[in-house]
Amino acid sequence: MGGPSFDEFAGAGAIFRNKDILSPTFVPETLLFREEETRGLMGALAPVLRNQKAKNVFIYGKTGTGKTATTRSVLKKLDEQKNERIKTVYLNCRIYDTRYKVLQKCISDFQPDFAKTGHSFVVLYDKFLDWVQDGLGDGVKGKRVVFVLDEVDVVGDLDSLIYTLSRANDDLKEGSVSLIGISNKVDLKQKLEARSRSSLCEDEMVFKPYDAMQLQGILKQRAKQAFNDGVVSESAINLSAAIAAGENGDARYALALLLRAGELAEKRASKKVSDKEVEDSRRAVDEDKAFDIISTLPEHQQLLLYTLATMGNVSYKKLVEENGEQLYFSG
Ligand SMILES: Nc1ncnc2c1ncn2[C@@H]1O[C@H](COP(=O)(O)OP(=O)(O)OP(=O)(O)O)[C@@H](O)[C@H]1O
Ligand SMILES: [Mg+2]
Repeated sequence: MGGPSFDEFAGAGAIFRNKDILSPTFVPETLLFREEETRGLMGALAPVLRNQKAKNVFIYGKTGTGKTATTRSVLKKLDEQKNERIKTVYLNCRIYDTRYKVLQKCISDFQPDFAKTGHSFVVLYDKFLDWVQDGLGDGVKGKRVVFVLDEVDVVGDLDSLIYTLSRANDDLKEGSVSLIGISNKVDLKQKLEARSRSSLCEDEMVFKPYDAMQLQGILKQRAKQAFNDGVVSESAINLSAAIAAGENGDARYALALLLRAGELAEKRASKKVSDKEVEDSRRAVDEDKAFDIISTLPEHQQLLLYTLATMGNVSYKKLVEENGEQLYFSG
């Protein structure tokens, strides 16, 4: 029989052992080079284990520096303590982007019987306070609640949100509410009102960009699990790390590069991921990154970008031509 044959695809699967390991949402068992940050965050949260209020923390660092991964792994460790009094709420503010939505999500997570919609903010807030104050029926009152607000800069009424959550501690007779805010926006702190700034930034942590050596370590750790033995050359890893080090030490970029390179090797029915595949994947990764950034911009900014692009700015134009349709319909 002529035409395409399945033999061409027989090699597929030879490259990856488990591709999901390279996905941006995967949190590895051990986070390399973040021991100090992990310990710092654990220190800020530790009071809840002694039934005291955790410190508020503001975590800042450029994209791909492990803020989300580190925080999630610390939350996991805290949950493993199996202390019923401690309640952690992790929220990505791209989805929960107002004070109302944040409180509503917390209430619907922990009190699913309470009707989801139609309450005024005041009703939600009172309900929330009641829940924090209530004990577990063991004679000790109050809960230790920790909100983790990832990408917190997206919240529209951020000053009100921070004010409400920190002010809750004055309204509570028992228990406490703490707040961990995460952002990669340098200017966020300056944009906050003095009052909410001092509440949120009780403790501050800065995640530094990874250097090429650290990125190599991160990639090696992940490649071992994600690829079959001997598939990825050492120099392909080093090259990916070097390129990502030039992209502000972004570990997400480094991992995306390796994933794309693996896919390219698969497509080319090659058995190895070498420098060539990494080099050839750069463009695709840059485009993915640009697309991610543009698709999460507010619509009016997307339109502005489109306008600029159609005015003849060559580099923007390229983007729009290639992703033109998505530009309008995503985000
Ligand atoms: N120290 C590390 N060890 C292993 N993997 C890491 C480490 N730091 C980051 N990563 C991986 O890199 C990717 C990006 O990390 P993460 O999502 O935590 O970045 P971030 O600082 O939250 O970035 P952003 O500001 O864009 O949200 C994830 O896949 C994460 O698992
Ligand atoms: Mg993050």
